[in-house]
Amino acid sequence: MAIIAANDVQAPMTLRINTQRDHEAILADLQPLAVRVRSHSGGASMCLYLSSPLGVHDIPGFSAGVVSVQDEASQYVAALLQLRSGDVVLDACSAPGGKTGHMLELQPAIRLTACDISDMRLEKVKENLERLGVEKEVVYHVCDVTQYDWDGEVFDKILLDAPCSGSGVIRRHPDIKLLRRESDLRAFSDQQQRLLQALWPALKKGGKLLYTTCSIMPEENEGVIKEFLKHHDDADIPSIQLSIGVPQERGWQCFPQVGGHDGFYYCLIEKT
Ligand SMILES: C[S@@+](CC[C@H](N)C(=O)[O-])C[C@H]1O[C@@H](n2cnc3c(N)ncnc32)[C@H](O)[C@@H]1O
Repeated sequence: MAIIAANDVQAPMTLRINTQRDHEAILADLQPLAVRVRSHSGGASMCLYLSSPLGVHDIPGFSAGVVSVQDEASQYVAALLQLRSGDVVLDACSAPGGKTGHMLELQPAIRLTACDISDMRLEKVKENLERLGVEKEVVYHVCDVTQYDWDGEVFDKILLDAPCSGSGVIRRHPDIKLLRRESDLRAFSDQQQRLLQALWPALKKGGKLLYTTCSIMPEENEGVIKEFLKHHDDADIPSIQLSIGVPQERGWQCFPQVGGHDGFYYCLIEKT
């Protein structure tokens, strides 16, 4: 019932503030417009809920790249990868680049490849990273990562923010209620499994792959991970803990909250 209620009310507009940039004056301008402000990523980012939505160009600090629009649940993704200077990182399904930008804010000294199957959507990643001023050195690659031959290239960290039913963000896309069919779930979980299997060989031994979706359906989340683990004995699931959501046997699940964050799933997989 709580999930249905949350899906029926307008989602709040939530901002991410890059506290590693000069943000004090911007924060002072934003605070009167905020209902809640929370620090995360070890203080490197701040999440601010606006009391009412604003056009992006009216948001102080947006054009200067200090502030981005991003739901709170998505703001936990980049930090879970524990990025270190020099890490070779693949953002496999990167567009429109919300999490790509956050990764580069938290650790600019990574070698990042941003892929997406859609060239138009990958352009959005470039625009986003240019606005944030973190676009230097990024390799952009339009490809279907289930077909791509990495030719021996391996990554320390991979983010697979997989295409999904969007069942955690129905309040932002209410057409999902009309358009989705139960049978779509099988197609999504098959696609997610293909993506995960295809990316695994590109992860270094000792590396970490973070699997995420904006879905609350177990078939797309823990179900995908459990099936994957049946065929990979070189995969380990370290436990993770967030200040929102609930633990799963494998991974962590957030459910949409009235006036709060979206539904989201996270599972970190380490290659042993
Ligand atoms: C959930 S969205 C990613 C959102 C993004 N990570 C962000 O934070 O802004 C999923 C993306 O996966 C891309 N995609 C779907 N199938 C793909 C494939 N086989 N290879 C590469 N990208 C794919 C879609 O075009 C879409 O942009």
